[in-house]
Amino acid sequence: MIPQRYANLLNIIYKNKSRRIMEIGTYNGAHATEMIEVSKIFYPAQTVEYFGFDMFESLTEEKLKQEFSKQPSTLIEVQELLNKTKINVHLYKGDTRNTLSQVKSSIGQVDFVLIDGGHSIETIRSDWNNVKDLMGQKTVVIFDDYYTNTEIEVEGVGCQTLIDSLNANDYEVQILEPMDSFAKEWGVLKINMVKVVKK
Ligand SMILES: C[S@@+](CC[C@H](N)C(=O)[O-])C[C@H]1O[C@@H](n2cnc3c(N)ncnc32)[C@H](O)[C@@H]1O
Repeated sequence: MIPQRYANLLNIIYKNKSRRIMEIGTYNGAHATEMIEVSKIFYPAQTVEYFGFDMFESLTEEKLKQEFSKQPSTLIEVQELLNKTKINVHLYKGDTRNTLSQVKSSIGQVDFVLIDGGHSIETIRSDWNNVKDLMGQKTVVIFDDYYTNTEIEVEGVGCQTLIDSLNANDYEVQILEPMDSFAKEWGVLKINMVKVVKK
């Protein structure tokens, strides 16, 4: 079944006219292309910016399991795909526990962020700690992988612990519909995206 929740990304970028887009977990660049094309409805291509982070070909089998992840394309493959959009593409290869803190000050404030890289609680927390420094009053941050109502607890992965601990005085949090469900050998994995903005 095709996941339905990704439509949220395009709807939010359209509604907010987001121009500076960041994605933690670029993967194969397919959703990046779609997000960029929506931004291009409002802006000339050369003014749209995409900042993509992934381990790309450096992702090991061990890290893939640890991060509950998927095997990405190579950096060169993604770069070639995204070059077709004619926008400004910036790709950063490596573990975001290192790369994000190294480059965030050179990126500055962004309009839209998808946090969808490593799915371990530690990596999601580290990604959030860096991304929150890039938020302005209008920045929208979308977390993927909020696991709800799993018949069997998914331990050590997902953003639910972090999201549920955010300070309600500082952030407005919205669990987004629709939810996607996937049958696993241990039960049903149910996934929502979550929208976070500053109050
Ligand atoms: C679920 S996929 C991302 C899907 C993509 N955002 C999309 O919408 O199609 C997760 C990606 O995060 C990357 N990743 C996993 N752990 C990472 C880490 N610690 N640092 C950087 N990238 C990581 C993986 O290589 C993989 O491409």
